[in-house]
Amino acid sequence: MQLDLDPHSFASLADVEREASTCTRCGLADTRTRVVFGVGDPGADLMFVGEGPGEQEDRQGEPFVGRAGQLLTRLIEGIGLTRDDVYIANVVKCRPPGNRDPNPAEIEACRPYLEAQLRLVAPRVVVTLGNFATKLLLDTKQGITKVRGREFPFGVAVLVPTLHPSAVLRSGGTTLAQARADFVVARRALTRPVPPVPPEA
Ligand code: URA
Repeated sequence: MQLDLDPHSFASLADVEREASTCTRCGLADTRTRVVFGVGDPGADLMFVGEGPGEQEDRQGEPFVGRAGQLLTRLIEGIGLTRDDVYIANVVKCRPPGNRDPNPAEIEACRPYLEAQLRLVAPRVVVTLGNFATKLLLDTKQGITKVRGREFPFGVAVLVPTLHPSAVLRSGGTTLAQARADFVVARRALTRPVPPVPPEA
């Protein structure tokens, strides 16, 4: 049994990435090619959280570089930003074989890495891509179609769930328009002035 990892124990994203790079906390370690930690601006105001690496990501060691990634890039550019302006991570850092869904034990094992990323990037807006990231971070059982495009308080940040780009690629049409609309919600939340920090009691 592995000792648990404290997401607060890391001083920098580089420290978290170093730890994750040799991770054997779950069985996905046996089948991965590369650990896909995260990419982008470590001080980004906007952070995306997907589900887990696919085949291309597993090969290249970078999140969202396959077809779904190309769509994500276009959606980011659609709100006037680039991939370099944001930070992109996943719920699980290693590819589930055959692109199956990550299981609860794998999600739990990987959770300290995501929590550390959220704490150290400290974005103002978090966009969850699809059901896995949304259910985990919002701690809800509600499906993505019920909650997408709305703003939820997330610590001092705002969380906006949207459809997973792979689902948009599969369904097309209306779902693409919905994803675009959700990105506009995130963009608007980003441009809103930061509320003043209340004085310490
Ligand atoms: N789908 C995801 O959820 N994450 C990736 O990195 C790629 C595809």
